[in-house]
Amino acid sequence: MTSFDFAPLLAGGLPPPAARFTGFPKYNFVGGHNDAEHVPVAALMAAAAAVLGREGRTLATYGLDSGPLGYRPLREFLVAKLKRDAGIACAADNILVTSGSLQALDLVNGILLERGDTVIIEQDTYQGSLNRLTRLGVNAVGIPLDHEGLRMDALAAALDGLRRRGIRPKYIYTIPTVQNPTGTIMGEARREELLRLSQQHGVPIFEDDCYADLIWDGQRPPALHAMSKRGGVIHIGSFSKSVAPALRVGYIVADWDLLARMLAIKTDAGSGALEQMVLAEFCTAHFATHVPKLTRGLRGKLETLMEALAEQFGTAAEFDDPKGGIFLWVKLPDQVDTLKLAQAALAAGVALNPGPEWSTDKAHGKSRMRLCFAHPSHDTIRAGVAALAEVCRKEFGVPARSANVERAGVA
Ligand SMILES: Cc1ncc(COP(=O)(O)O)c(C=O)c1O
Repeated sequence: MTSFDFAPLLAGGLPPPAARFTGFPKYNFVGGHNDAEHVPVAALMAAAAAVLGREGRTLATYGLDSGPLGYRPLREFLVAKLKRDAGIACAADNILVTSGSLQALDLVNGILLERGDTVIIEQDTYQGSLNRLTRLGVNAVGIPLDHEGLRMDALAAALDGLRRRGIRPKYIYTIPTVQNPTGTIMGEARREELLRLSQQHGVPIFEDDCYADLIWDGQRPPALHAMSKRGGVIHIGSFSKSVAPALRVGYIVADWDLLARMLAIKTDAGSGALEQMVLAEFCTAHFATHVPKLTRGLRGKLETLMEALAEQFGTAAEFDDPKGGIFLWVKLPDQVDTLKLAQAALAAGVALNPGPEWSTDKAHGKSRMRLCFAHPSHDTIRAGVAALAEVCRKEFGVPARSANVERAGVA
């Protein structure tokens, strides 16, 4: 049977087709998956039963009884949580619940960006944010990072340079609280300086706090949104990393004027209601006790990963111990091309994120890789790193020594 040929009818400018899902690789260090052991299944089941028993009939309406901003008790939970943890003072009507914070990225981009615009972004950053900008035809100016995130000298120079060319960037996108992929936290003084530069140049800040709940010692500076005295900060967050990514619940904190513009382009008639209801019920009772358990487990896995890298790669793998999160950003020797390494490793069942896909500077990213340690078990982490070291040695001759055993040269 021949199938109908849609190819000539497809819209122009589509991205390449998605690959078919064929299951997860054996050693899965890619993406932002969470720790299956720490999905609070029993409490989510109890929350679902309670909230559906009480309010299930409100599912008969689009947007429940809460309207298009999202389930009100979830927004009320967020008001209290954001105040307590991030110092943000906002009302429930300053929060828009989205289908993951990816939709938040799309909505913010949707109201601000046009082809040919310029934005400022961290040099090493979340691939999902970078790809969106590329697809939109937006010029992303990458700012180098250090142990505290965005470097203010480089940011000031970039803003001055753009101003001289008559370019006003649409925003400064930053992940200041557990940066993806580097795992740094921007200190309070630097946040002040960032806000000062944003104000001076009339460029708003787009603050992505996706990982802010996953800090080992639970201590974080106030959000940029909280510290800003004159507005100009759009804040987004997610329940993907603190509870579960498959729920697809994120949120935007912004002034009503902006949310009103976003609602006008959020044409899905509301994000999934059931997950919002269950989350509200679960979080109100358990969020504060759930998160420390999760982060303790994640910290343990990170230690396993760092030990395995030290054992298998020795000094060939350089990294800073991140302050939280689910990623380790690893520098390999200059001769390693992680785009090639990723392909060869995949053939051996090891999936990793190659640095060039997570950086505006492809040369800087070339010998770097991002490893997600949240999902694989401790044993899988150890075996996966050993398998990766073997592939890397065969392809690039490093590490020359692994697991304290001298190896032969490049095969
Ligand atoms: C920095 C950052 N922002 C946003 C997202 C999107 O997450 P979600 O749509 O699951 O909330 C991710 C996912 O990994 C991320 O790393």
